Amino acid sequence: MTVPLAAVVLCAGKGTRMKSEKAKVLHPILGKPICAYPLMRALELGASPVVPVVGHQADEVERSIRAHFPTAPLRFALQKEQRGTADAVRSAESALKDFNGRVLILSGDVPLVRRETLEALSAAHEKSGGVLSLVSMSPADPTGYGRVIREMGNVVRIVEHKDATPEQRQVRECNAGIYLVESSFLWKALANIRSANAQGEFYLTDLVEMAAAQGPVGSIEAEFGEAAGVNDRVELVARAKELQARINTWHMRNGVTLTDPATTYIEEGVAIGSDTELAPMVTLSGATVVGRNVTIGQGSVLHASSVADGTTIKPYTVLEEARVGERCILGPFARLRPGTDLAEEVHLGNFVETKKARLGRGSKANHLAYLGDAKIGAKVNVGAGTITCNYDGVNKHVTELGDGVFIGSDSQLVAPVKVGDGAYVGAGTTVTKDVPPGSLAVSRTPQLNMEGWVERKKARMAKSAEAGPSKPDKASAG
Ligand code: UD1
Ligand code: MG
Repeated sequence: MTVPLAAVVLCAGKGTRMKSEKAKVLHPILGKPICAYPLMRALELGASPVVPVVGHQADEVERSIRAHFPTAPLRFALQKEQRGTADAVRSAESALKDFNGRVLILSGDVPLVRRETLEALSAAHEKSGGVLSLVSMSPADPTGYGRVIREMGNVVRIVEHKDATPEQRQVRECNAGIYLVESSFLWKALANIRSANAQGEFYLTDLVEMAAAQGPVGSIEAEFGEAAGVNDRVELVARAKELQARINTWHMRNGVTLTDPATTYIEEGVAIGSDTELAPMVTLSGATVVGRNVTIGQGSVLHASSVADGTTIKPYTVLEEARVGERCILGPFARLRPGTDLAEEVHLGNFVETKKARLGRGSKANHLAYLGDAKIGAKVNVGAGTITCNYDGVNKHVTELGDGVFIGSDSQLVAPVKVGDGAYVGAGTTVTKDVPPGSLAVSRTPQLNMEGWVERKKARMAKSAEAGPSKPDKASAG
């Protein structure tokens, strides 16, 4: 039987070095707040409950976490005063009072820890049979980190940089701040931690010496790049670049071509099929799903959208909560807003904007159109400059175009209105009444040609020039 797992994620610190009005853990890395990453890892491992410890800007941090994990088994704990990492974990005790098992402790400002590393920590813990295991790392410059002190190879304690002797500071192996602890040991030991140290804080790291007194301390070593935290904006970008490279590499290994991975931004959680190609400066965010053999042109931005196999998206096209069928052609410069739903082989060209618009198979709007609140059938041709007038100043109304409809250029469709199957709307028409299937609607005034008008105009102008410049009017001359 597997031992129950809970997690505590420390998110209470201020992050002074960010020099920000916003709590450090809320600063984004590839579209998600820093603290969302350790929370995701804890949830992936099946930890339940997961306790975010909040303190500085507690309300904002809690709101943001709830918004990112609406259905997760979260229990929030409040650390009123930031008195150190041990005090932070202690704040989670009441949220976990009915929990018996192992508690994974993560820092809310260490975003890149991989699931595999946490699984290895769990395996090391299992093997050691002790009450606490930890992750260590060996940064090139260990200044500031707690040092892992070993005797005969066994971890015996952690000494914080500020409390370390010169010999202890020579130790390269550092504490990453990631632990797996038996709950039966954790709360009792935390109650015995004192703040008699260089910083006058309650150090969580003091747990390690207490655990070592009871048995072996399990440990695994992680790459520094994975266990590094975020303290200022330079480190924020360094972690973001590292995550970007990790995600992009993963997709390339899965058969996706990235023309210029350095400028390609793919958020965690995006899925892309093989043989799809992303040009430079493409951003894929939210729960976006892209199929196979899709081409996404330079500068395109896709958020929370799905694109089926074989579709071509030309440069600078923006999709938000849109669904695109197979073998469509979009852009350049098309904008698909929420509720856009395209069947197969739909073409939307330059400067076409859609919102809550459904287009049937093979329909086309190739230039300059606004299609909002529209139900459009199959094989419809929407001419350049067509606008669905969906808003009367108070309410939104629906435009319906049947299969095979042809809308001439520069037409306005004043909703609510329906154009029946196979009907034609002449160019420049303002459609205010339903058009029956198979008919032609035209609303423009008949054209009038005034023959010889230009010659007559020139003659009038020549005559007035002979009469000399017109006199200034009295009002302005005065
Ligand atoms: C901590 C470790 C150190 C380790 C380093 C790794 C201790 C005493 N030291 O040091 O051994 O090498 O992490 O990055 O634990 N927090 C709270 N409440 C508090 C204090 C901190 O929630 O009262 C949170 C912070 O928001 C942060 C995490 O705990 O997410 C770590 O705190 P931080 O102050 O950064 O600890 P370090 O000094 O970096
Ligand atoms: Mg830190």
